[in-house]
Order: sequence, then C-alpha cells, then structure tokens
Amino acid sequence: MNPPDALPDLVSSARSIFQMAATPAELENAKAQFLGKSGRITELMKGMSTLSVDDKKTQGAAINLAKQAIEAALADRRQALANAELERQLKAEALDVSLPGRRRGQGSLHAVSLTLERIEAIFGSIGFDVAQGPEIETDWFNFTALNTPEDHPARSMHDTFYVEGGTEAAPNLLRTHTSPMQIRYAVQHVKKHQSLIDAGHRMPEIRVIAPGRTYRVDSDATHSPMFHQCEGLWVGENVSFKDLKYVFTDFCRTFFETHDLVLRFRPSFFPFTEPSAEIDIQFQSGPLAGRWLEVAGSGQVHPNVIRNMGLDPEHYIGFAFGMGPDRLTMLRYGVNDLRLFFDGDIRFLSQFQS
Ligand code: DAH
Repeated sequence: MNPPDALPDLVSSARSIFQMAATPAELENAKAQFLGKSGRITELMKGMSTLSVDDKKTQGAAINLAKQAIEAALADRRQALANAELERQLKAEALDVSLPGRRRGQGSLHAVSLTLERIEAIFGSIGFDVAQGPEIETDWFNFTALNTPEDHPARSMHDTFYVEGGTEAAPNLLRTHTSPMQIRYAVQHVKKHQSLIDAGHRMPEIRVIAPGRTYRVDSDATHSPMFHQCEGLWVGENVSFKDLKYVFTDFCRTFFETHDLVLRFRPSFFPFTEPSAEIDIQFQSGPLAGRWLEVAGSGQVHPNVIRNMGLDPEHYIGFAFGMGPDRLTMLRYGVNDLRLFFDGDIRFLSQFQS
C-alpha cells in the first residue's frame, strides 16, 4: 500500500480509537500507537529514507498534515474527557441551594418565666424594685421574724423541707414562701438610710417585689413541691389598705390585659399581717367568667414584723402580698394541670412565646 494513500484512513482510525478511550490513561495508551516512538506516524517517517527528494517533499508534507490531524484529535479527546470528569464531579458534589438551611433548635422562655417577666415589668413601671433572695433560708427569716409562732403548723417536719447546715435551735430549710424577703430587703433598706432616719428625716419608702422559687411538701394537680411565689412589700409613713387595693387591682387588669375583671379582698389570717386578706379575682367575661379565683394572700404588715425590719411601728406602716405566678400562668393560658409546667416536655413548653 502506498503510505500517503493510507493517511486519511490512519487519521480516521486514530480518531475512532481515541474516541473509544474512556479514561485519560486509555487515551495516552492509544496515543502511543500513533505518535509514540514505534507508533504508526514515526514508522512512516522512518520509511521515507529510501524515497527520492521529490517524494520525500510531498510525502513528508502529507505525513505532517496527518500527524497534525492526529494531534488535534488527541487534544480534542483530552479536552472532552476532562470536561466529562468535571461534569461528573459537579454532579456528585451538587448543592441544592434551594434546601432550607439546618438551624439550631430555637429555645424559648418557660411560661412561668414569662409570667415573672410580666410581673416585674408591671411593678417596675410603678416604682417597685425587684429583689432576689436565697432559697435555703434560716428558721429566723422564714418564720420567726415573720411573727410565726413556734407551734405554727407550717413549721412541722412534714410541711417543710429541712436541710443540713443549721443548728437545732436555728435549722436551715428550703423557704416555704418568699415572705422572708420582706425582712431581708427591709433590713438592708433601713441600714442604707439609717443616718437619715436617725436625723429625723423621712426614709424613702420601701417598694419591692421578690419573685422566686419556694418549696413545700405538697404534690397534686395544683400543687408542686417546688413552686413560685412573688412577694410584694410597700412600707412608708402613710401607706394604707387603699393603696394595696388600687395597686393590686391595677396589676391584675394589666397582667390579664382586661378591665373586665373585679377583685375581692376576703378576710383571712396570716401571722405576719393584721388585718389579712386573700385576694380573689373574677373575670366578667371569657371562659373563666363568674368564678372567684384566689391569686394572692395579703395584708397590712404586722407591727412585730415592722419592728423586725428595724422600724418603729408607730411611724411606719405598709402592706404586703404574696402571689402565685404558677397560678397566674395557668389562668392566663388556660392550663389546668400545674405539673405540665414542670415535666419538661418541650412540645408543651414551646407553645408559650409571650
Ligand atoms: N406567705 C404567704 C403564703 O405563702 C402568702 C402571703 C400572705 C404573703 C400574706 C404576704 C402576705 O406577704 O401579706 O401563703
């Protein structure tokens, strides 16, 4: 066969062999068959040595063209394989940018915390300070200073959690109410203003609320061994029951966001107040309408308690109240089992956002 006549076939067979190479490695092997040291083109070049000068010129030019055509086919195939590889990688690592991102679970405040925040905001807006106190209390602050006698039932071992650390005469306990904060706060307040008081000046009024956890040996649908209270105290030279009434009425209406609400002060007894009253509320409309619902204990601070604050009961008078934020939370959201708030079930708890 005359080599130049075979050249077009050689080029097209190179093309189809390159085309069949499925990987870069196969393609490089295929290249060797044509352009390698003992490849077909190289063989043709070698074969020219016996030709005449004229034939060398024409055949040499033809072989060169064929060589260039084969090199171009090789380059095309290399590029095609590289493109296919890139395409494959892009597909494998594809990102669906329309998928929603992965987020952290979003937390929310506990329903009772929301209630405490509301209480603090409302009383804060009428000039009440917010105080925090210890949950492990002494017998003095929890009972004695609050005019609670030795034989009061609240002091019995099975109503109160006594804890290690105190003495028999002055045992430590988990506070059964937030009322000890009345004494703690007032004593600090009086100390701060003692020189004013001694000089016969007017002491700034005590106006404080003290929210927090409290403990009793008690557990059913409406009682939990750990529960919350919020104490309130307002003491000055001229603070009356009337002030308690308007402050608490205003608080309830603001808290429940309705004026369709009336209050009742029902005579009661607490050792640390005299007179004492339970505060009941009644909604005039809505699902709870018509029922009296107890929300707080209250009263005029007992003279012995005023004395334990370091003040003279002949000059200072005030009122106190203790309310149940858990109860307020149940009423506000219409929940009838207190235990749900403390079981820690996120499906329940995450329903309360404001
Ligand atoms: N500490 C009382 C209780 O836990 C509630 C209470 C009643 C608080 C009357 C007060 C008050 O400040 O004046 O049952």
